[in-house]
Amino acid sequence: MNTQKQNRRWLLRQRPQATIGAEHLELVTEPVPQPGDGEVLVRNIYLSLDPTHRLWMSDREQYLPPVEVGQVMRGGTLSVVEESRSDRFAPGDIVKPAIGGWEEYTLLPESWVRPVDRHPDIPLSAYMSVLGSTGLTAYFGLLDVGQPKAGETVVVDAAAGAVGSIVGQIARLQGCRVIGIAGGADKCRWLTEELGFDGAIDYRAESVGERLDALCPDGVDVQFENVGGDIMDAIYTRLNQDGRMALCGMISGYNDERPMPGPTDFGRILMKRLTVRGFIILDFQERFPEGLSALSQWVLQGELKWKTHVLEGIEQAQEGLGLLFSGGNDGKLMVRLMSEP
Ligand SMILES: NC(=O)c1ccc[n+]([C@@H]2O[C@H](COP(=O)([O-])OP(=O)(O)OC[C@H]3O[C@@H](n4cnc5c(N)ncnc54)[C@H](OP(=O)(O)O)[C@@H]3O)[C@@H](O)[C@H]2O)c1
Repeated sequence: MNTQKQNRRWLLRQRPQATIGAEHLELVTEPVPQPGDGEVLVRNIYLSLDPTHRLWMSDREQYLPPVEVGQVMRGGTLSVVEESRSDRFAPGDIVKPAIGGWEEYTLLPESWVRPVDRHPDIPLSAYMSVLGSTGLTAYFGLLDVGQPKAGETVVVDAAAGAVGSIVGQIARLQGCRVIGIAGGADKCRWLTEELGFDGAIDYRAESVGERLDALCPDGVDVQFENVGGDIMDAIYTRLNQDGRMALCGMISGYNDERPMPGPTDFGRILMKRLTVRGFIILDFQERFPEGLSALSQWVLQGELKWKTHVLEGIEQAQEGLGLLFSGGNDGKLMVRLMSEP
């Protein structure tokens, strides 16, 4: 009986002012809810851990309402239907909730449940990474916002991460030269030796500015920005005339509640006729089928490689999120909450 099943879920207890600690979230156990008419109860297989979760814990002005203190932490999941009182879904269906949570079971209105069109040759976890929102972010952010053209130089930071690693590979597929910036020799080696990047800069060990000058002697045409701060500034000050910055994220500023600083020389936008455009992947929702179709084809043709970093068990979620801010994740970070069905 459902009433005997227990749902472990993380509630937001306090808004962090700096890095996330054990005091900000609490793992509680509650009975699994019963679906009513038109509702679907899903069991979550994978929980995606994303840098934006830190923003959602904050009450700073942002693109979605902050998670309320006392509420379950919001997060993307890949899930299987456990019980359905909707004609559109049956137990066993693999789905993605439009809005999920850091919990083992989620009760959803049927309109919030999206079926996952799973290809038999693609691992399920890929639908949380290269074929999930990070892959789509790379696809639309680079192609629509960055507008790369063959022969141009693209620079991406957090380049070995879930978004950045796909950005670089798509840029290569467009015929661009690609330079990635990442933390550590192993991540940089992966970019150049396995993903085909033309160069990589280890920002922990090298001067980003000097290395950009050496690797991009003709400047930078497209900046795919994930980090913000000094790294953003170093790339920006090398943007060419008509250069574009696709502003995807500023992870170096998320643990600080103050406004996130921009580039030092704002006038460069004027002098060089730059386009700086922020975007949120939700803006492209209606075009997800187009993005998924292109990404799936590249995956099936072996054109895209990706890594997943999987933590085991919901209890890992709070500490696990910190890996994104220390660079301790090696690939798309997620938590496995149950064995794949
Ligand atoms: N606009 C959107 O709709 C959208 C959607 C998804 C993600 N994003 C953004 O995309 C970025 C990447 O997200 P992701 O999910 O792909 O995560 P990820 O890159 O897999 O993981 C985050 C990485 O950021 C790097 N990092 C963290 N703090 C840093 C710092 N202070 N300086 C330099 N690098 C730092 C670390 O890599 P190193 O080991 O290389 O330091 C870390 O592994 C984030 O800014 C995120 O907010 C935006």
